[in-house]
Amino acid sequence: MALVKELGDLVKGDILYSDVYKNGTLLLSGGTLINRTAIEKLINWNISTVEVLEAGESIQTNQDTWEVKKKTSILYSKGILSTKKLFYDSLIYVVNESRYGYVLHDNDKLMWLENLFIHVMEDDRISNAVFNLKKLDSYSYYHSFDVFLLGSLLANEVGIRELDIFAACCLVHDIGKLQISKELLNKEEKLTKSDFDILKSHTMEGVTWTKKNKLPKIFETICKSHHERLDGSGYPNGLTDKDISKEIRIMGIVDSYSALTLKRSYREPILATKAIELLLNKKKKYDLMYLITFIELLNIYPPDSIVKLSNGKKARVKVVNDQQPYRPTLQELGSSVTFELPTNLSVTIPKFIRWDHVEQEAVGSKREQYWNLYINNLIAGDWETAFENYKNLIDGLTVENVFIDVVVKTIKEIDLRWDTGQLSVGEEHDALLGIQQILQHMHKEQAMYTDTQR
Ligand SMILES: [Fe+2]
Ligand SMILES: [Fe+2]
Repeated sequence: MALVKELGDLVKGDILYSDVYKNGTLLLSGGTLINRTAIEKLINWNISTVEVLEAGESIQTNQDTWEVKKKTSILYSKGILSTKKLFYDSLIYVVNESRYGYVLHDNDKLMWLENLFIHVMEDDRISNAVFNLKKLDSYSYYHSFDVFLLGSLLANEVGIRELDIFAACCLVHDIGKLQISKELLNKEEKLTKSDFDILKSHTMEGVTWTKKNKLPKIFETICKSHHERLDGSGYPNGLTDKDISKEIRIMGIVDSYSALTLKRSYREPILATKAIELLLNKKKKYDLMYLITFIELLNIYPPDSIVKLSNGKKARVKVVNDQQPYRPTLQELGSSVTFELPTNLSVTIPKFIRWDHVEQEAVGSKREQYWNLYINNLIAGDWETAFENYKNLIDGLTVENVFIDVVVKTIKEIDLRWDTGQLSVGEEHDALLGIQQILQHMHKEQAMYTDTQR
């Protein structure tokens, strides 16, 4: 039986029994873990009562094709106990602070995931597939379990409907790998094109499995499309942005994060911060909004992240400790003082603002191109082209920085080329005249800037 609770009686860790709608809009789906965000959402929408699960109760689902068995009658059966043991054994294997931050220090979240795992493993089709995968290749199993945990946590944050079904999909997203040899799955040598083609077939093999087992359509979608990327670079169909569902966007992030950061037999794992940097650098492939939610969920921010602290101040992440990435060394914006987050986490980092490094890197590489075009054309006497690139080069710089980063640098570069015999007298003359033009331009810019400050 579900319990009807007033908002004031909700406690952290309660789980919604059924979907909550307001004026036909889904606010929170059945299976959502009640946390501060969920309660705020309910208050904002003037919801006064909700149905929550009683202990041991299953989540209500609108999916009639995936019959969820009630757990109450078999709560203490051998089956449940062994699933519970599998959950904790797997948890020990995949979860540590260096990859999960402190997200699973929250006992309510842990209990919720444990119940979710027991719940989805009640379905024989799912549990048989999971056991077979574990038998074939332990890495593929632990990766799937990892994706189940991370995918469920992220889906809960972004309000995915029918979360228990999505969680089950996470667990079997790579089930098509059952059709691929263990040797190929763990091949250490460089993969050939035909190796890749066989590996990629796990997506369509997954579809065959979902059809054979008459699972709801969402299982087919996840098995088939979890390697699709927003920029069209994924497989098997090269889908783009508009054809990629919320669920696939979540999968893209957690599947990649897990694959990068879990230890493999033939390589050491990549650090969580490095993996996040990689995802941020490829933001055209991944949903940036979900990626930020994921980063905030784990509380793992790569160096050069600009973040907002729970005390309202803004800071830059300077150094991240690999073992406790959620306690980085920070520098408050506008100050040179650095500090570590307190061990009792009385100050935390709830908000990611941006990653400065990305912009610097993107601008940096472009700036280098502009610089080369500018200086070479300046020396060659093509002032028009030089000036065009000069304008790109100074975009976003203050007048002072234009002087230091461009004018002084130009003079030094001309001196260097003259000293090393790379310039003819005519070229040096042209370059110096070019600098004169630039200084005149700077003078005009300075006057305009002063006007905006009045
Ligand atoms: Fe996959
Ligand atoms: Fe995967």
